[in-house]
Amino acid sequence: MSLETIRRVRDLRERVALWRREGLRVGLVPTMGALHAGHLSLVEKALSLSDRVVATIFVNPRQFGPAEDLAAYPRREADDAALLDAAGAHLLFAPPVDEVYPEGFATTVTVTGVSEGLCGAVRPGHFAGVATVVTKLLLQSLPDVAVFGEKDWQQLQVIRRLVRDLDIPVTVEGAPTLREPDGLAMSSRNAYLGPEDRARAPRLYAILSQVASDLAAGADVATRTAWAVAELEKAGFGPVDYVEARDAETLAPVGERVTRPARLLAAARLGRARLIDNVGIAL
Ligand code: PAF
Repeated sequence: MSLETIRRVRDLRERVALWRREGLRVGLVPTMGALHAGHLSLVEKALSLSDRVVATIFVNPRQFGPAEDLAAYPRREADDAALLDAAGAHLLFAPPVDEVYPEGFATTVTVTGVSEGLCGAVRPGHFAGVATVVTKLLLQSLPDVAVFGEKDWQQLQVIRRLVRDLDIPVTVEGAPTLREPDGLAMSSRNAYLGPEDRARAPRLYAILSQVASDLAAGADVATRTAWAVAELEKAGFGPVDYVEARDAETLAPVGERVTRPARLLAAARLGRARLIDNVGIAL
């Protein structure tokens, strides 16, 4: 394997600085590991936009609530490194927790507006944890471009906002959600689904797709999103945290009908997994 794994910020900075001196463009793909084809598509996109790609694996404790799955979150760094190597990534940055949050760490990056509501309402502190670690990873590596998946649509808007607000000199690129053949969005947390729930899971995307096309055709937002919640519950999901149509960028509510580019977003528990997904509402 030619992919090298580094664990210290100083080594990351050194390596990226060397590439920059050689005039190479650097791409960053932050992940929490347990990689699947969706992550590898982010690497592929980063490779298409830069000469050198740094992938990061860090299961960020600050974005998990006290009752969430931090301890159970799948960790398989050796397998992930082999996948990244095969995908063409050039460097893996996989720091220990105390490299990212040393003794005395006291800073939190909070993004108002886009972080509020949707997953922000159900997972207090989650987006502050994401914003803090992503800000650190961007400042540690100073890439030209950083690639994030559109499956975490709200996260992507939070990151776009913080990069703009803090003048971080990086281009943020979103990459489309990769799906299983039956439509289920790829996610490391799909591993939590037992066989029965796995068979039910594709209903989430099917229902969202149906409602998105109804809303694009002018249907009433409240009626159709209430229908989606009821259908998800009928399919065995629950609790359904939300099904909401929002402005695609600001995530502001869209009102009674969709009249500008929008996104339909949902989160719902299914057995041991909490699934999120979203689709565009194309007018
Ligand atoms: O999307 C993820 O995997 C994480 O939220 C991220 C962006 C790597 C930050 O920990």
